[in-house]
Amino acid sequence: MNLPPYQDFPLISDNKIRLRQVITSDMNDLLEISYYDAKQAKNVAEAIEMQAKIDKDYDEGNSIHWGIEAISTNKIVGTCGYYRGLDKGEGELGCVLLPQFRGQGFMVNAMQLAINFGLKNIGLKRIWAITSKQNNQAIKLLERLNFIKLTDLPDDEIEYELKKSRRKDL
Ligand SMILES: CC(C)(COP(=O)(O)OP(=O)(O)OC[C@H]1O[C@@H](n2cnc3c(N)ncnc32)[C@H](O)[C@@H]1OP(=O)(O)O)[C@@H](O)C(=O)NCCC(=O)NCCS
Repeated sequence: MNLPPYQDFPLISDNKIRLRQVITSDMNDLLEISYYDAKQAKNVAEAIEMQAKIDKDYDEGNSIHWGIEAISTNKIVGTCGYYRGLDKGEGELGCVLLPQFRGQGFMVNAMQLAINFGLKNIGLKRIWAITSKQNNQAIKLLERLNFIKLTDLPDDEIEYELKKSRRKDL
């Protein structure tokens, strides 16, 4: 296992997006999708406070949160990362796109990069994601990435998982 924090914050990219550290000057753009502990930030100051907690979680080895930047425009379009489970060799993957950047294929690329990083660099054995049964776009995204439905949870939620053994390319 190779848990955060790392000497340099992991910057990873493909030909469409790059995953990079979120910085204070992003918070204005990210306000609409700034959450911590399922609570949404009401203003930029609160979003900055939340980002400080996210940075502390990274420094303590509990999470890694990336900003997703479109290569063609250098604009931040969303965030994704691992938010729980790293100490057990597992990772809960979460993601959100700003509404105006949905439906363009940014997240499938971002999740693929995060998955490869989780399996190869962190050394995760299992990756999971939780979504509500009504969240068709999240379900389509997870199924595109070869996640398998694992179990129904209370409150109309479902857990999906991806096991390293299902990834023949890794
Ligand atoms: C879940 C969420 C990230 C999915 O966003 P998304 O835009 O559907 O996902 P992608 O960025 O991968 O885009 C895929 C869509 O873009 C379309 N698309 C358009 N151009 C594309 C291109 N050049 N390349 C790939 N896909 C493209 C795909 O067909 C697909 O649409 P479809 O699912 O209707 O077929 C988004 O709905 C969201 O932020 N929701 C709120 C937070 C949330 O629910 N998070 C999930 C927690 S598990």
